[in-house]
Amino acid sequence: MPEPLLSVENLRTYFSSSRGTVKAVDGVSFTVERGETRAIVGESGCGKSMTALSLLQLVPEPAGYIDSGRILFETRDLLDLTWSQMREIRGREIAMIFQEPMTSLNPVHTVGQQIREAMSVHGKAAGEATDRAIYLLGRVGLEDPAQALRQYPHELSGGMRQRVMIAIALANQPKLLIADEPTTALDVTVQAQILALIRELQAETGMAVLLITHDLGIVAEVADQVSVMYAGQIIESADTRSLFKDPRHPYTKGLFASLPARNRRGQDLATLEGIVPDAAAWPPACRFAPRCPYRWESCDTLRPKLFPPESDRPVRCHLYDPTIPGWPRLEKAGTTAV
Ligand SMILES: Nc1ncnc2c1ncn2[C@@H]1O[C@H](COP(=O)(O)OP(=O)(O)O)[C@@H](O)[C@H]1O
Ligand SMILES: [Mg+2]
Repeated sequence: MPEPLLSVENLRTYFSSSRGTVKAVDGVSFTVERGETRAIVGESGCGKSMTALSLLQLVPEPAGYIDSGRILFETRDLLDLTWSQMREIRGREIAMIFQEPMTSLNPVHTVGQQIREAMSVHGKAAGEATDRAIYLLGRVGLEDPAQALRQYPHELSGGMRQRVMIAIALANQPKLLIADEPTTALDVTVQAQILALIRELQAETGMAVLLITHDLGIVAEVADQVSVMYAGQIIESADTRSLFKDPRHPYTKGLFASLPARNRRGQDLATLEGIVPDAAAWPPACRFAPRCPYRWESCDTLRPKLFPPESDRPVRCHLYDPTIPGWPRLEKAGTTAV
């Protein structure tokens, strides 16, 4: 196997707050292979954005900081790079798009200025940059790219702004695109168009995508691999087909059960009760235990590890670890399979 493009190992990103240390990202590991799409999916507040921002060292300072871990991109650990080396990587080798393009586009600069700026920081000459800007804006589906160059962000619709962000992200042909909820602010039709565009561009350029979302429907549509995040940790990883066929962690099962009915054929009608616990005080052992229908004593005393380790189908749940006291737990009356 060739080395993965990106390999994140045991990443911990914390915040200092008046309530103590907030462990927003708490020991996260995953890989992204060249050309593939990995989704990270989970409810709001589980640490998805902080994981993404950590990769580019854009965690909000001074409260937020990367406590430990490794972020291997090709051969380098990004955490060893200087600020200026990191600036070379950002936008050129790894680009990022966000949920609300209005906050990352500059309202007082035209689209053309911003897309050319993205290229000139990485050394493209002005004339060349304009030609490529027009090409890119056309490629992402703007009808009149030359006109769009002269427009300001507020003159565009939300969908058009996201297309512009994608054009900027692609300007320097990154090897990895990080997309943090790229379609969440858009209506369903535009959402589908943007996802299709990302897929097409990926097929064309061979870039890898790390897609952050709270929406399993989006995972099904675009991801090759998926990691489910809960309370600062990855609790299950799998290839997308396996996860949809056989979700294993009780939290993942709950996410599927709460999907709209058309996606729920054959599954029971349970919904996910309760809320994500406070990141300043995660439950002591299994973080999902307070919401889990399968909880037993060991869930409150022993921290579940991803099991089996080093497998392509790890689950952070005692139900799948025969070394845990009390295993195998007796099924709840009326259920046959966990
Ligand atoms: N500025 C901050 N100060 C303290 N804690 C923060 C700050 N920003 C984020 N967090 C914590 O990090 C957790 C994860 O946030 P985030 O990565 O944005 O979640 P997601 O993207 O999954 O919705 C939040 O639940 C919150 O507790
Ligand atoms: Mg987020």
